[in-house]
This record gives sequence, structure tokens and C-alpha cells, in this order.
Amino acid sequence: MKASISSATLAFLLTRALPSSATSDASDPCAKIAGLAFVPTADAIACQKAFPFNETLRQNVLTVISRVFDFFTFEDYYLDSPAPFQESTTNIRADIARINQTKYETDFDFNADIYNFTTKLNDGHTRWFPNCYNSYQNILPAPVVSLEEDGVQNVFIAPDSVEFLELLGSNFTSFFDSKHFDWRRLAGAKVLEIEGLSAYDYIDVVASTVSGNYLPHGPRVNSAFSSYRIDGTNAFSQRIGDVAGPELLTQTELTFKLITVNSTREETVTVPFLANFIGTPFTDKESFWANNCAANDETNGVDLRLQSNTLPNTTTPRRRARAAIIDSAPKNALGLPAPFLPTLPPVNSSAGVIKSFILPDNKTGVMFLGSFDGDFNQFQTDTLAAITQFQQSNVTHLLLDLTNNGGGFVCLGFFLHSFLAGTDFGYPGFQSTSRANPLAQRILAADIAQGIGENIAFYAPDNWAFLNDTAMPLDFNYNDPSAPLTINGRSDPTSIRFHDICTPFAVPMPATPPFDLKNVAIVSNGDCASTCAMFSTLMNERHNTTIAVFGGKPGEAVEFKGMAGNQVLEWSDLDTEIKTAGLKDAFSRVLLLSANWFAKTGVFQHATQLENRMELP
Ligand SMILES: *[C@@H]1O[C@H](CO)[C@@H](O)[C@H](O)[C@H]1NC(C)=O
Ligand SMILES: *[C@@H]1O[C@H](CO)[C@@H](O)[C@H](O)[C@H]1NC(C)=O
Ligand SMILES: *[C@@H]1O[C@H](CO)[C@@H](O)[C@H](O)[C@H]1NC(C)=O
Ligand SMILES: *[C@@H]1O[C@H](CO)[C@@H](O)[C@H](O)[C@H]1NC(C)=O
Ligand SMILES: *[C@@H]1O[C@H](CO)[C@@H](O)[C@H](O)[C@H]1NC(C)=O
Ligand SMILES: *[C@@H]1O[C@H](CO)[C@@H](O)[C@H](O)[C@H]1NC(C)=O
Ligand SMILES: *[C@@H]1O[C@H](CO)[C@@H](O)[C@H](O)[C@H]1NC(C)=O
Ligand SMILES: *[C@@H]1O[C@H](CO)[C@@H](O)[C@H](O)[C@H]1NC(C)=O
Ligand SMILES: *[C@@H]1O[C@H](CO)[C@@H](O)[C@H](O)[C@H]1NC(C)=O
Ligand SMILES: *[C@@H]1O[C@H](CO)[C@@H](O)[C@H](O)[C@H]1NC(C)=O
Ligand SMILES: *[C@@H]1O[C@H](CO)[C@@H](O)[C@H](O)[C@H]1NC(C)=O
Repeated sequence: MKASISSATLAFLLTRALPSSATSDASDPCAKIAGLAFVPTADAIACQKAFPFNETLRQNVLTVISRVFDFFTFEDYYLDSPAPFQESTTNIRADIARINQTKYETDFDFNADIYNFTTKLNDGHTRWFPNCYNSYQNILPAPVVSLEEDGVQNVFIAPDSVEFLELLGSNFTSFFDSKHFDWRRLAGAKVLEIEGLSAYDYIDVVASTVSGNYLPHGPRVNSAFSSYRIDGTNAFSQRIGDVAGPELLTQTELTFKLITVNSTREETVTVPFLANFIGTPFTDKESFWANNCAANDETNGVDLRLQSNTLPNTTTPRRRARAAIIDSAPKNALGLPAPFLPTLPPVNSSAGVIKSFILPDNKTGVMFLGSFDGDFNQFQTDTLAAITQFQQSNVTHLLLDLTNNGGGFVCLGFFLHSFLAGTDFGYPGFQSTSRANPLAQRILAADIAQGIGENIAFYAPDNWAFLNDTAMPLDFNYNDPSAPLTINGRSDPTSIRFHDICTPFAVPMPATPPFDLKNVAIVSNGDCASTCAMFSTLMNERHNTTIAVFGGKPGEAVEFKGMAGNQVLEWSDLDTEIKTAGLKDAFSRVLLLSANWFAKTGVFQHATQLENRMELP
């Protein structure tokens, strides 16, 4: 790249490159951008802010949110989160009351406030993703990473930015070309300041206010950066990172002080964001609301008792606990640029969420686990195939890469532990409880009274096992009487402790470890969520497994796990649970009136034996 093109001039031209929004235009701000894949962020904001605040919707949304939080197992922990998690301390009920009293101009502002409040809980289980305002993804053509050069760490514009962002196609690049903004020359630039703060200080602001998802600060620092991952389609992918790819449209440009590659000159460059449409197509304001914001068939739950003739038979899987986060930034998956794809031949069975390789030393097998999700049985057959091939190839060391692993089925975390430790090791520690709030107790009592089983209800007793791994009988009430628990001075009783039912597994399990456990290690960027966090914690606690974490910023340790384990139920799942129990009048008469169907929270808390939920480092 030529370093010397008149960058100062370009920066100047760019500063006000974005057209101002069409607010003075009485015409429809959504019609103006309909059908376009990429639009100036200010224009997308004008459309999203075209809907005035509506008190009916506020009361509806806050009522639902307040009742969803009744199920949230961590609520009282937030009143006084112990160090180093104190950044998340808040009084959730006071937050809801504040949002109930705040004056908002637009529906966007109201939703953004809820989004921000739940984001700052820093628990990826518990988020508010309004479809309406997640309809565009903001993208800055300057994703950042933290790199070390001659022993010194600094923030840089990702060196692969050109190969990476060109994957967005000519609609993306032509916008910048038409503005004569050369974003390509920024690739690899050393970043000194962002928005007037030192680069790492700005990263900290993003980690504290935008990233969410992870309880410790360090993993959120890594979320701010661009990083590699396996995406929801099981392809190698690159996250844009939360600096360059925030979910909500709140910024139209970002100002950097930087030094481009092969230059020594500091310059100030203001880089515009571009908004990428990822919602449901519309033609104008009315259809934008109807297609992206109004409630639809998936917003609320259903009474599964009425659909029993279409229910799966007992040979089909139970309603398995999933402990996962939705990392929806960006929803438009970007591939990992071709030059950075692994060149080692993949080990058999790498089509799913697990990609396996043998390193050139012929001694080390690598399993890159994108999640514990996807096809439940394939995860198991792929694990067996990879480890069998490793053994046939005389591999003696195993490296598990858990970078950006968003979690998934609790039972697959249990499975992988059992496979690596051997079944002779016994139960690793994945006990669960649920909050014994009055409605949860009524749901379970109603399930028992009607003989409702695990095929249509999460709360059904036969979905769980006693601590001796015997499945609970259909009439066993594990939530009443409750077990006393006091958290931060508040009484917050829970159910008794129980196990998930995970066995039998789909593949033959080794009785003893396939590899000496001393030769098994884990590497990740600490963005390891829920089931991933439980799995890593257990490997570390039970086998002293070495865990290496990369990234972060100078002077701050990064936890190897980002959160506790929690089974997540979305609003529609909870609503289904209540309707199926026949308690419609008690609760589900409240229907969400707008399509915010990602409102979700952790309901069944999966603590490892050592209570990793609030474990100190
Ligand atoms: C920087 O300089 C090196 C050595 O001259 C050259 O190989 C490289 O292509 C240059 N990079 C850019 C981006 O100009
Ligand atoms: C550009 O966007 C339009 C829709 O706005 C789409 O029809 C077209 O296929 C896109 N072109 C490319 C190269 O992605
Ligand atoms: C507010 O939203 C409700 C529910 O969608 C709707 O029925 C009502 O007409 C809206 N009120 C105004 C003033 O638009
Ligand atoms: C909001 O506050 C009003 C009174 O100020 C109260 O009637 C209403 O129930 C509150 N809504 C929620 C969801 O808490
Ligand atoms: C939400 O947080 C973002 C990022 O900190 C901020 O720009 C925005 O003003 C906040 N919005 C509201 C309504 O609090
Ligand atoms: C379930 O099994 C019964 C018989 O065992 C069969 O009649 C029915 O069609 C099956 N239902 C489904 C949805 O497969
Ligand atoms: C990989 O899978 C293919 C087909 O399933 C099989 O023929 C082959 O032997 C396997 N290779 C190894 C090294 O296991
Ligand atoms: C690893 O195995 C390959 C293929 O058998 C061989 O070509 C290579 O030399 C081996 N490498 C080492 C370090 O032994
Ligand atoms: C693995 O080791 C065995 C025994 O030393 C040897 O016979 C076999 O060729 C080795 N396999 C590979 C793939 O290197
Ligand atoms: C397992 O524990 C339950 C509850 O304590 C008990 O009722 C049951 O008999 C036990 N089952 C076995 C096989 O020990
Ligand atoms: C793990 O390491 C600690 C400290 O060195 C030691 O006390 C413990 O026995 C080890 N546990 C296992 C399972 O190896």
C-alpha cells in the first residue's frame, strides 16, 4: 500500500462525508433507504427514530421484562457483585423503575435504554434484542485488534481489513469509493487515540458500555477487538468486534489518531460508519414497522398441550438445556479471508461446529470448538472420529481452542468432559437449581397435576435427575419445599439441587482418558460462554488443565471463562412453559405487543461444584 497519498486531505474531506438525515424532509425516512443493503448510518437512524414513544408499548414491555426477571437466577447477586465483577453491580428493579419514569422522544430511545441496561448486566444470557433496532448492523471499515510488536502491545487497525471487508461486496466498498474515502490504506495502522482517548482507554469504554455478555472485564476487552471464530453456519469467520461493529446505531463516525504502515507521521482520520440492513425487507415506514417491529407468530409462546398430536415421540430428543449466548454482532456473517484459512488438511468430521487438525509436529491434535451447539449427535460422532484419527496418527497431545465459543447444550459440555476424562472418572459436576419463585412453583405443581412430561415442558420433573442420576418421577416436586438461600441479604430460595439427564450418549464412551490429561490444554480469547465456561472450569478444577488466554490489554488479566452456566429461556419459551402448564390467567395474558422475541434470561442455573458463578480468579 502506498503510504504517502495525501492522507490529511482525505481525512478532511471525510469528516463530514455523511449526508445529514432527512428529518426536515416531510417525506418518509424509511422509504428513502428501502431496498438498499448499505446506507449511511444517519439515514438508517432517521428511519429507526421515525416512531414516537408509545406509553402502551412501554407498559407492555416493562411488565414482560419485570416478570421475566422473576425467573432470573442471578438477580440478587447483582445487588453487590464481588470484586472483580463489581462493574456489573446494579439494582435491577430500580433500573426498571427508572426506565418506567424516563421521558423518551422515540420508541428507539426507549428500547435503547433497555438494551443498554441489560447489556451492562454483562451476562450474555440476559439481553434485550429488539428486532426493530437490530435491523441494521453498523460497520466501520476499520476493525481493531491488539498486537504485540517488539514486546510492546498496541491497538492496530486489523492488518487483514482489506481482504476481510471486501467480502462485504461492492455495495459496501463503492460507498466509500464514491466518497473518495480510502479505508484500505488504514489496514495495519498503529492506533494512538480513538475519540480523543488513548486507544486502550477507548477500548475500555466499549468494553464497559457496549460489549456486555461477559461478567469479567477482560473478555469484554477482547469482544471489542476483531477476532476469528466459527459462525452459526459452521464456517470459519471473523467477528468485526464491538468497536467497529456495534449492534445499535448510535454512532455515525469514529475519529482516530494513527500512524499508517511504513509511515512515521501521526494523522487524524475520521472514519464513517455504514449501516448494513439485516432485517426483513420493507418499502416504507409503515412496512418497516409491520415487518420488523410488530409482534408476530414467534413473539409469544403457545400452549403445547393443544399441539400434542404433532409432538415428537419418545425417540426424539427431550427439551435439552441449552446454556448459550446469542452473539448477534454482526448477524451478517463475514468469512475469514482466504489467506487466513487453515492450510493443514482437516481431520475427518470437521463439517460441524468442531474443526480438527494435526499440527506439523505430528504429535499435537487441535480441536477448534466453535460452540457446544448445532447437531446434538453429530457433535458426539465428530468428537469420536477426530480423537480416533488422532490416536491412529499417533498424536499424543490435544489442544482445545475455545475462542469465541458461545456455549450450547449443557449435555455436550458434560459429554466432552466424560470423553476426555473417561467415564470411570464419574460425574464431573454440572449440578443445577432453579429459582423457587411463586410462579415457578405453580408451573411445576401444574405440570405434576397434569402429568406433563419433558417432551413439552422444561420444568417437568422427568427432565431432571436426582444427584444419584436416577430420573425424577413425574410426580416429584423438586421446587417445593424450596431450599433456603440468602444472597446479599435477600432471601432467594431455590429448588433442591439436581442433575441434567445426559446419558446414554450417542457414541461408545472410553472408560479411561484417550490422552494423558496432562497433555490436554485449552486456548482461547476468554470469550467462552456458559456451557463453554462450565466445561473449561471443570477441566481446570478437576484435572488442573492448563488454559492459555490471549489478547486483552496490557496490565489486565483475562479470565479464561466469561460467565457462569445458565440455561436460557427466551420470552416465548417462558410464555410457552406457562401456557402449557395451563396458568394463562396468572401470567401470559400479558403478550408482547412488539417483536422483541430475543428477550431472554437464564432460568436454570448450572453451577459447577465449586460455584463458578461468582468464583474469584
Ligand atoms: C511497507 O514496507 C515494506 C518494506 O519496504 C513493504 O514490503 C510493504 O509492502 C510496505 N507496506 C505497505 C502497506 O506499504
Ligand atoms: C447490492 O445491493 C442490491 C440491493 O440493494 C442487490 O440487489 C445487489 O445484488 C447488491 N450487489 C452486490 C454486488 O452485492
Ligand atoms: C401504541 O401502541 C399500541 C400497541 O401497538 C397501539 O394499539 C396504539 O395505537 C399505539 N398508540 C399510539 C398513540 O400510536
Ligand atoms: C410504571 O409506573 C406506574 C406508576 O407510575 C405504574 O402504575 C406502573 O405499574 C409501572 N409499570 C411497570 C411495568 O412497573
Ligand atoms: C446507550 O448506550 C450507547 C453506548 O454507550 C450510548 O451511545 C447511548 O446514548 C445509550 N442510549 C440510551 C438511550 O441510554
Ligand atoms: C408416535 O408414535 C405413534 C405410535 O407409537 C404413531 O402412531 C404416531 O404417528 C407417532 N407420532 C409422530 C408425530 O411421529
Ligand atoms: C475419513 O473418512 C473416510 C470416509 O468416512 C474414511 O474412508 C477414511 O478412512 C477416514 N480417514 C481417516 C484417516 O480416518
Ligand atoms: C509428519 O508426517 C508427515 C506425513 O507423514 C511427514 O511428511 C512429516 O515429515 C512429519 N513431520 C514430522 C515433524 O515428523
Ligand atoms: C504410529 O505408530 C505405530 C507404532 O509405532 C506405527 O506402526 C505407525 O506407522 C504409526 N502411524 C503413523 C500414522 O505414524
Ligand atoms: C436416588 O435418589 C432418590 C432421591 O434421594 C431416591 O429416591 C432413589 O431411590 C435413589 N435411587 C437409587 C437407584 O439409588
Ligand atoms: C491440581 O494442582 C493442585 C496444586 O498444585 C494440587 O493440589 C491438586 O492435587 C491438583 N489436582 C489434580 C486433580 O491434579
